[in-house]
Amino acid sequence: MKRIGILTAGGDTPALNATLYGAVVRANQRRVEVFGLVKGFSSLFNPRVPHVHLNPLFTTIPELETTQGGTMIGASRDYVDGQDKAAIAEIADRLERLKIEGLICVGGDGTLNGMQALSHHLPTVLAPKTIDNDLGLNYRHEPDEWVCEPNSESSPPRYVRGPARGRFDLEHMVNYVTPGFATAAFVSAWGVQRIRTTAESHRRIAIIEVMGRHSGYLAMGAAYGQPDIILVPESPIDVDRLVERVIEVYELQKNVVIVCAEGVVDGRGRELGSESASTDPAGNIVLSGAAESLRQLLVQRVGDTYFTSKRRNESARAAIFTRKVGHTQRGGRPILFDRFYGAQLGGQAVDLLLEGHTNAVSILQWDRASGFHVEVVQANDFRDRWGIIHARQMHPSFYDAEELRLSRAGVEYLLPIFANAIGQEDLEVVRQTLFHPGNLTQPYHSVNVDVNKRICFLD
Ligand code: F6P
Repeated sequence: MKRIGILTAGGDTPALNATLYGAVVRANQRRVEVFGLVKGFSSLFNPRVPHVHLNPLFTTIPELETTQGGTMIGASRDYVDGQDKAAIAEIADRLERLKIEGLICVGGDGTLNGMQALSHHLPTVLAPKTIDNDLGLNYRHEPDEWVCEPNSESSPPRYVRGPARGRFDLEHMVNYVTPGFATAAFVSAWGVQRIRTTAESHRRIAIIEVMGRHSGYLAMGAAYGQPDIILVPESPIDVDRLVERVIEVYELQKNVVIVCAEGVVDGRGRELGSESASTDPAGNIVLSGAAESLRQLLVQRVGDTYFTSKRRNESARAAIFTRKVGHTQRGGRPILFDRFYGAQLGGQAVDLLLEGHTNAVSILQWDRASGFHVEVVQANDFRDRWGIIHARQMHPSFYDAEELRLSRAGVEYLLPIFANAIGQEDLEVVRQTLFHPGNLTQPYHSVNVDVNKRICFLD
């Protein structure tokens, strides 16, 4: 292979540039040209295929910087529909005319779906990323546990999890953790610590919503900020137990910090945050408002009298507040863990293409003896027998539904990731750059300005 393409699809994550960098450095060593396709799959839908040559003369362009969050080649939630044969044929033709002989897609489960549609036309490899940590399997045979329940004629079938059949062991997880997750957990945990101060000082109850869609991994990671209660989508909310626990904690310390995953569900499995639901261009449900719904619920159930008996003239509404960590958990400089392993996965994706793999996934494995290392699996390993890729959910053993917090197994899962996740330079850089006087006087210089000058098009 003389030339490969690379694209970053789905929501941005802090490790994308690191993954691109790892791929380009490896390609330089192996004398392969890398074209970065601009804005994910959307580049391929454009007849002119906007792209950037990332390693002219096998030298990495300076705009590609591992410590920059986001992706310098842009991302979008455009995806390739496997059923749209005409679009796929057009894309294959464009890639051929660009002389691209293999394609690396950096992304999550949606990206893997889009990539698979192209894998009949050229070798493809996925390098994973997602702050949700939901691209992976808790164990090798997890997809076989999904069951398809037919619905009425007008609505599509429903996929539900059947009972777990195997014994769970951390060493059996497929893609233990995805780049982006560690930085997002770092930001969320920090946010939780900071909000605690207000809850403590004003005797309030804080509900902090973190992202993660239908997976509770990110909420788990926020446990490092020491919230009193964690609510995850995998465990439907038991309102009585929640209210009981909130009061227990409030009685003791006069403040409560609750971390709530955006995808939490009620006892009937309905998403609390989907009341104002819509779908994004990739068909994902956009979740908003889980924390707010939870707040309404606590306001009603705990009630004004409880608070007025303790806090002069203060209603439940005044005492319970919500904050979303929001996109700050997805943005900014990646911490060491994500930079390092993002780059490794990108590098290995290049090797996999050159070794002739197709429709493969570069994954990060962990075992007790050797720690983290990269391996490869087939994309199909993530599919159930109907061909559907399901977002990985947090393994139930990671959560203690009675105490509403991490279980011992959950703690054990997090330890290897976060033991050395932050590099000294990650903190030093804040000291050196945040209050740099130039920040006040110079306009922000966006990498997009430089990258735009490098964009080429198919003739
Ligand atoms: O999948 C990553 C993610 O950050 C989710 O956790 C979140 O629900 C979603 O993307 C938000 O998407 P957007 O940035 O497009 O609003």
